[in-house]
Amino acid sequence: MKGVVLAGGNGTRLQPLTLVGSKQLAPVYDKPMVYYPLSVLMLAGIDDVLIITRPAEIELFRRLFGCGSRLGMHIDYAAQEEPRGIADAFRVGADRITGEDCALVLGDNLFHGAKLPSILRRAARELRGCVLFGQHVAEPQRFGVAEIGAKGNLLSIEEKPEHPRSNLAIPGLYFFDDTVTGIARGLRPSARGELEITDVLRAYLAEGRADLIRLGQDVTWLDTGTHESLLDAGRFVRDVQHRQGSRLGCVEEIAMRMGFISADACYELGAEMSDSPYGQYVMERARAHRLDPAPATFLEE
Ligand code: TTP
Repeated sequence: MKGVVLAGGNGTRLQPLTLVGSKQLAPVYDKPMVYYPLSVLMLAGIDDVLIITRPAEIELFRRLFGCGSRLGMHIDYAAQEEPRGIADAFRVGADRITGEDCALVLGDNLFHGAKLPSILRRAARELRGCVLFGQHVAEPQRFGVAEIGAKGNLLSIEEKPEHPRSNLAIPGLYFFDDTVTGIARGLRPSARGELEITDVLRAYLAEGRADLIRLGQDVTWLDTGTHESLLDAGRFVRDVQHRQGSRLGCVEEIAMRMGFISADACYELGAEMSDSPYGQYVMERARAHRLDPAPATFLEE
């Protein structure tokens, strides 16, 4: 399965932060934002990822991850010339995605929770069209909203509705089968001029091939598109890390835990940043893994 991180967009709500830089490279406490969505794909077992960015920033992302081999992955890059909408990812990335199932994560979405890895693996395993997620939120008007029937089956999807039919918001993480690029090819821009992800989801829904997995309150989902939410996300990461002594979105540790790289390779990656607490943490996790390579709790079913 291919992974796609959509990390373009104008980030207008974060100006002037985003005037000369990418939102998805902005710090969320101790690491660039993109580490968090990338780590979600890795936890789903995906080691082949396409990162889509604005043309001006593609080299910055490449400097960060290179071809991915240091993480035992294959990471590739594509430029989205204009922010034509989330579903445009399947056009921009068509030649790299076609013929494969794929998971798409928005570059400014952060997920955390002990059950997350097993939920992601379930989504990949049970894929029979598309899988989207739903989480109860206080202000559904700000999001794509899902309506579900008595048996948890998906009934409708609406984009930022004025009068939402439920409180179930749809996070920026989706799994699609290999028909997604064909569906995206047939899309027309919406009234706001974007290729809408909700139109892709609705196409699957019309064919009876869209499933929704509910995320309980034990999974935290944050987006980081405003100054307030960016600061909240940083505080959340700091608080969890301080309390639990583990790090969120630590791609080096996850690569090791997922078996993409050895403990020695992970240690080397940490040693390159040994002046920072982050680098020291990576080295310490690698040392611990050498002694006890049992899966971390975050990989338990
Ligand atoms: P948004 O937050 O909807 O848009 P944005 O990031 O441009 O921010 P703003 O509304 O403040 O201008 O985008 C959600 C995510 O999807 C974000 O990570 C950027 C990404 N995105 C693209 O990469 N390309 C696009 O065409 C769009 C619409 C979004």
